[in-house]
Amino acid sequence: MVKKAFIIAIDGPAGAGKSTIARMLAGKLGYVYIDSGAMYRSITWAAMRAGFSLQDDKKLVALAKETRLCFKKHDHQMKLFMNGKPVTKAIRTPKVTANICYIADNLQIRRLMVKLQQKIGQAGGIVMEGRDIGTKVFPGADFKFYLDASAQERARRRYREFKARGVKVKIQDILQDIRIRDHKDKTRMVSPLKKAKGSIVIDSSKLTPEQVVSIMMGRIAGSV
Ligand code: DC
Repeated sequence: MVKKAFIIAIDGPAGAGKSTIARMLAGKLGYVYIDSGAMYRSITWAAMRAGFSLQDDKKLVALAKETRLCFKKHDHQMKLFMNGKPVTKAIRTPKVTANICYIADNLQIRRLMVKLQQKIGQAGGIVMEGRDIGTKVFPGADFKFYLDASAQERARRRYREFKARGVKVKIQDILQDIRIRDHKDKTRMVSPLKKAKGSIVIDSSKLTPEQVVSIMMGRIAGSV
């Protein structure tokens, strides 16, 4: 039985299963699940809609400063609200994904996001996933997991998801896209994706989500 309100950080590359795992783990622990990527996606989407050049750092920062982001309980889970409205699937389109680097590479915007994430999670009882949670947002987190999987396996998983939804895609294109995202995430000048000091690395390539969660639960329960 885990009683303490821990701060649990999960980082890793795109498609490693972080959201599924973080949601399941938070559910088991009765914690709040926070998807930090949704925050970067929302600002990107808002900037695209505003119509100015995404290379205009001044306008990007001004927009990020005036955008109100908050997580609220909605349909039994924590949902991101932007300026009072629930954020929809619109933030998950390939176009938004392709443009996120303008936001994620901006130091001032990252500072704003990190501050907000720290405020949300400081009381504990939280599972937060992203790219810099264990390195920048909560370097002192009670548990820092780095969830990895081979690029091929991540591409296969995405391919199966698309196929199930009836979307026609080529697995080679997905793999190429994953490699591009990995490169962007790992070579970012500010807060690149890397294993946090003291993080527990789990390679999920050959594991089911249940097995990953069980490993995590074992590490958490074993330490209390
Ligand atoms: O988790 P995701 O794929 O929805 O995240 C989208 C992008 O947001 C990711 O490619 C990089 C950025 N991101 C970030 O820079 N830092 C985070 N903590 C989370 C996401």
